[in-house]
This record gives sequence, C-alpha cells and structure tokens, in this order.
Amino acid sequence: MIDQYGNEISWVPSLKDRNSPLYISIAESIEEDIKKGILQGGFRLPPQRVIANHLGINHSTVTRAYKLCEEKGLIRGVTGKGTFVTSYAGIPQSLLTNNNDSHIIEMGTILPLYELNGVIESFIKEINHEINYNEILRYVPPEGHIKHRYIASKWLNQFNIAYSSEEIIITSGSQNALAIILTTLFKKGERIIVDEYTYTGLISLAKLLGIILVPVKTYEDGIDIDELKKTCDREKVKGIYLIPDCHNPTTAVLSREKRLAIAEIVKSHDLLLVEDSPFIFTVQDSLKPISQYIKDKSIFIAGTSKSINPAFRISYIGSSNKYIKELIHGVNSLNWMASPLNAEIISHILNTSKYNEIIKAKLSILKERNGIVDKILSAYNIIPSSTSLFRYLTLPSSISDKEIELACFKKGVQIFSAKRFIAGTHPTKDAVRLSVSGPDNTTELKKGLLSIREVLEFSSSNIHPII
Ligand SMILES: Cc1ncc(COP(=O)(O)O)c(C=O)c1O
Repeated sequence: MIDQYGNEISWVPSLKDRNSPLYISIAESIEEDIKKGILQGGFRLPPQRVIANHLGINHSTVTRAYKLCEEKGLIRGVTGKGTFVTSYAGIPQSLLTNNNDSHIIEMGTILPLYELNGVIESFIKEINHEINYNEILRYVPPEGHIKHRYIASKWLNQFNIAYSSEEIIITSGSQNALAIILTTLFKKGERIIVDEYTYTGLISLAKLLGIILVPVKTYEDGIDIDELKKTCDREKVKGIYLIPDCHNPTTAVLSREKRLAIAEIVKSHDLLLVEDSPFIFTVQDSLKPISQYIKDKSIFIAGTSKSINPAFRISYIGSSNKYIKELIHGVNSLNWMASPLNAEIISHILNTSKYNEIIKAKLSILKERNGIVDKILSAYNIIPSSTSLFRYLTLPSSISDKEIELACFKKGVQIFSAKRFIAGTHPTKDAVRLSVSGPDNTTELKKGLLSIREVLEFSSSNIHPII
C-alpha cells in the first residue's frame, strides 16, 4: 500500500473494536498481529510518522505505542535503520526465561562456574569479525577442521600431552567422546575395569551398550594397584577407564608411581586405556597422563566443558594412528561431526590469552570456595583439595549417605551420595560428593555448607547409647 505522500506502508494497525486509549490500541494491534504470525521476527515496521499520517493522529501517540511494545520486548529500534519485530516476539514469556524459582542450593551437579560467562560472551562479540563464516558454515570432515585440530594439539602440549593434529578428533563434548570410543572399540559383553566409584555418564553408557564394568577398589589416592593386577590376572578384560586428574567423584589425583604401574599393567595385559581428563586444569603441577607412556594402547579425552563452558560441546580425543580411522568412522556414524562453529570459538579461546585469563579467574574463585569448605567442614573427613570443582566427604558413622542427602534437601541443599557413582556392589564407607562450583556465589556456598554442617552435627548429637 502507498500512502498519499508516496510512502510504502507495509503494515497498519487495526483499531476496529478497540476501546483502550489510542496508543494502547496500536500496541495491542502490534502484539496481536505478532501472535497471529502476521508480523514475524525481523519485520520492519513502518516509520512512526507514516503510521501517524495514515491514521491521521499525532506522531507522539505512535511513539508511545512503539515504546510500550519495546518495553515488552516485542520490537526493537535500530538507530538509522528503523523499528523491527524482535526474533523471539510471540514466544510465550514463560518460555523465554529460565524460571528456576526453586530455592535449592546446587551442591550436587558440578558446574563450570557460570560467573565467567560474561567474559566468554564479550570475547565472542570481540572475535566475531575474525571468524571466516564462509569457511565455518559448512560440513567439515568428521574429525574436524585441521586448523582446529592443530590448535588443540598446541593447547594439549602445555599439559605434557603430545598428539599431532592428525592424532586429534573433535567431538561434541566428552560424553560424546566416550560414546564414540565405547561403540567403536568395544563390543557388547566385553569388560572394562573402572574405579569402584566412577563417572555416572560412563556407567549409564556402558549399561546402554551392554558393556560390563568391572569395579576395582579405590582409595583416597586412587585405584588400588594390587587389586587391579589381581583383577586383570583373574578376569578377561578388554580395557580400563580412568580419570587420573581429579577423579570424579573422589577427587583423587594419581601419583606418578601409580601412573607408571598402571601403564605397565595395561601393556602386560594387552588392555586399552581410556583416560578421561575434564578437570586437569584444576590440578596444580599436573603430571603426564598415563596415555602418554602407552600411546599405542590408549585413548585420551580432553574436555572443555568445565575449563571453558559446556554450551559449546567441544572435546578432543587424542589417539595414536592405530585407532584413529575407526574412531573417525565412529564420529561419522554417530553424529557426522562436531559443530565447526563451536570448535571455531573454542579454538579462538584456546589460541589466545583468553584461555589463561579464564583459567586464572576460575582457579582464584575455586581457591576461595575451597577455603570456605575447609573452614566450615574442618571437623569432618574431607579429602584435601584447594582448587577442585567438587569435594569428597566420608561420613561419620552417625549418619548414612541416604539420610544426609534427604536431610540436606529438606534444608534446601542438593548433594549427591557416593552411591550414585558406584559401579559395582562392593560394600563401601558412606560418603557424599559436594559440588563447590554449583552454588551461584560464595554466599550461597556458605549457606549450603552451614546447612550440611548442621545436619552432620545434629546426627552426631542424636546417637542414643545402646545398653
Ligand atoms: C569424568 C567426566 N567425563 C566426562 C564428562 C562429560 O563432559 P562433557 O560435558 O564434556 O560431555 C564429565 C562431566 O562432568 C565428567 O565428570
């Protein structure tokens, strides 16, 4: 439609049957047409003056109407370009905000410290112009773009981990890496040794694939080497899954001696080691991974979900040539490729000073948070760690893991019993894993810890002697 001044009018508000003041009626008409899909995200509304002329009303009335819609997030003015319907206009408000109004303090799930999200957001905006979108918005080979693999190889080098670009595969997170490794290199019914407590994602994946987990005793310093040897002598196992750098859930860091002993066992029993390392950045003076001693008998997984952010879903598999083709075939069959756009952003972070900035900030927050844990729970048996994302608390005999989980939940704090991580049926000491990185801030962390301590204190004051 063209108005009397020769302006094109792509849309006009319908004011028929509306009784509200004029500016509200115009706003209602905009909202209604968005809901009906007549005005779609990105649509450029006619200039206010054009609408005012068309309706024969004052320009300021249309301005008020547009302002009202802008406040509701329905439209957005762009200087010099006009007023546009926003991309998410028409999506119910209840779906737009994460309405997490539960007042539970999260000390169960290990989170990456969302406080750093602002730094990541600014960085993405900053590097936007450096991204070669023409190269990135495409299918890439299943193993990933070679420049991203090169950057990963360079990044891993700083942890004494040597894989060439060709020995690296990009995956959609570490869980995806595990799925690729287990489906590609293990068959249904085959056996994998694990710590008696281990990462729940591995437990559920093995169950799904019909792979049998063989648990071996684990202590504060990690897997029991004698038990491991005996198990390998006694049972026919194909592989072993370990988290040597801050084991989940026990926080154990394997010593160099244990790493060497495990490497020997893997060699002598012809096993395949799957070494998962999402927390290596939290371990000061981290040691050489076991897989570096036995490259032909191991696969290494380096995740970025916790060190950077899980939303990118980028992890790296490091493997010698022996397995690389099969693993690439696995990626191809399961998910074709990891997102090249996400790999591009992560590569920018890893290849600039941004990575060290993020890690430095995370470690400083973790130091403060772990100091608070040590102070508040000083009377209890908690495995020492100054920069871990989580802690492992062995419970006093006055309370069971089930009881403490429930009592804490009733007080508004989520914690996880160690039994959730159990891979076998070994009788064990009751313990809980406390996420240090889960609470939103130190005030919440303190509140959570004080509640946990109250539960512990109450349980020990409540023991009735039996005569
Ligand atoms: C030991 C271990 N491996 C793998 C993962 C999965 O990480 P991602 O988010 O990269 O899939 C986790 C998550 O916490 C983990 O603890």
